[in-house]
Amino acid sequence: MQVLTFKDYEELSANTAGFIADAIADNPSLTLCMASGSTPALTCDFLVKKLKDDKTDYSKFSFIGLDEWAGLPPTNTGSCHYFFKTKIFEPLKLRSSQYYLFNAQAANLQKECRAMDQLIIDKGGIDIMLVGIGMNGHIGFNEPGTSFTALSHVAELEEITKSVGQKYFDGPVELGKGITIGFGHLMNTKKVFLMANGSKKAEVIKKTIEGPVTESFPASIMQKHTDGFILIDEEAGSLLKDQ
Ligand code: GLP
Repeated sequence: MQVLTFKDYEELSANTAGFIADAIADNPSLTLCMASGSTPALTCDFLVKKLKDDKTDYSKFSFIGLDEWAGLPPTNTGSCHYFFKTKIFEPLKLRSSQYYLFNAQAANLQKECRAMDQLIIDKGGIDIMLVGIGMNGHIGFNEPGTSFTALSHVAELEEITKSVGQKYFDGPVELGKGITIGFGHLMNTKKVFLMANGSKKAEVIKKTIEGPVTESFPASIMQKHTDGFILIDEEAGSLLKDQ
């Protein structure tokens, strides 16, 4: 695992987008799996711009959404689906056969999980994952206590995840479960980027990098990934020993 620190959110986002855009240019048929959220929002804008400016062929890459709030329709403006539709799929005019997201309204969410596991196998694995980190150290909806070998699964969400998650919605919404790609897939992914910005993430970033590797603090799994990168701005890194 390597830690790369950038001056501020803008530099962090531009560089993260650069890593992904370059990877797509090098391997036009790669499979990218991404989290939505406040953290990667600007990265998405830079990524779209860079792919277009560089005239990169992005017609062949595959996109997989990391997670979704269970029960939400894709039209809900707080859903991960809506985020990707407006920030990636529409601006890049991706074909619908190019992207894969959990159907969080499926009657059988377990079936949805097995279909995602099979899709990842069919794609020959994920090439790049870009994930964020929650205030309890979660990645996707891999909440504290999730096995480091878990595949796609439905997770009961902690109170903090449900309360912090309210920020994505126009008004109060009842959140209960999440559906997510698991750590078994993260560990098999060729390259993983975990990004974080702002002083509110400083504590969880310190635990991720300097704390013990334990399933009770999910993001600590990054220490075990041989091609894992922690991408942060100076504020998120402000509590690290070497700062
Ligand atoms: C959410 C999502 C994660 C996301 C994380 C951080 O609950 N399930 O995929 O990475 O929390 O979100 P943000 O970037 O908005 O801080």
